[in-house]
Amino acid sequence: MRLAEQKVLVTGGASGLGLAIVERFVKEGARVLVVDRSEERLTALQQRSDIDVEVVNADVRSTKQMQDAVDQAVERFGGLDCAVGNAGIWDYSKKLDDTEPEHLEDAFDELFRVNVLGYITLAKAAIPSLVRSRGCMIFTASNAGYDAGGGGVLYTASKHAVVGLIKQLAHELAPGVRVNGVAPGPIDTQLSGPAAMSMEDRHIAELNLPEKVGPTLAIGRVPETREYAGAFVHLASADSSPSTGTVVNADCGIGVRGMTRAALGQKLVEKYGVAG
Ligand SMILES: NC(=O)c1ccc[n+]([C@@H]2O[C@H](COP(=O)([O-])OP(=O)(O)OC[C@H]3O[C@@H](n4cnc5c(N)ncnc54)[C@H](O)[C@@H]3O)[C@@H](O)[C@H]2O)c1
Repeated sequence: MRLAEQKVLVTGGASGLGLAIVERFVKEGARVLVVDRSEERLTALQQRSDIDVEVVNADVRSTKQMQDAVDQAVERFGGLDCAVGNAGIWDYSKKLDDTEPEHLEDAFDELFRVNVLGYITLAKAAIPSLVRSRGCMIFTASNAGYDAGGGGVLYTASKHAVVGLIKQLAHELAPGVRVNGVAPGPIDTQLSGPAAMSMEDRHIAELNLPEKVGPTLAIGRVPETREYAGAFVHLASADSSPSTGTVVNADCGIGVRGMTRAALGQKLVEKYGVAG
């Protein structure tokens, strides 16, 4: 068990990628407190008999609620070793020209407050405990933190900001606390959007990413949510002790697709007669 006795807090841990991180961390021996704004999902998680976690219903946009959540983790576990900022929303790749001018300011505020401020509130609240434990922070970025086309201007700008936040916090908190990130590619989840764009009830799963996007990726498919969790385990474990201010690129090869889109290596599979 790579995370035995680690005390961990995960935001947005009641669904999608966050839930996969929680499940994997528990399997690796960690004690996990899940923070999410969805009471319904937290209740469903607590009712599961196969996993034992603590939960706190909170909104990552609130400095006070995140301080309370961190305090709860410290009280229940006796400290904190790792804070995972993961809660986020998407803008459904809405183009700026198609965005209604009257929605722009509210949509910006809502998306940036969840995706960027929501990581900063966690960091602010967790600093003292993580300095004491010489712990770490891990933030979920995205392929949209590096490349265009993984969202609209709001989401892409927010995830670029997350990459900057990781570097700045790593700089400010060295040597006491390591700060790293993971940049996933597409994931088939319940990822929703800003209410200010009437996207709060949409889910990215409706886009059928495995069928529509999978074949365009260098790895040829959309990974299962749990396949992304190993990168977080690595960054939370002593195996990554030399790393801070880095982001593990798990973008399914979006950055290396080139002009052909489909994997050139497919020809090698045919050439060498590999089955399946
Ligand atoms: N799904 C993708 O294709 C994809 C790709 C790259 C990166 N990401 C990133 O992965 C992270 C997780 O997204 P997901 O796809 O698992 O989505 P998801 O909606 O399945 O899970 C996100 C969870 O965060 C919670 N949440 C949202 N806003 C919150 C807030 N203000 N306060 C507290 N909790 C809040 C939601 O209730 C939900 O349970 C996000 O940061 C997202 O940007 C997703």
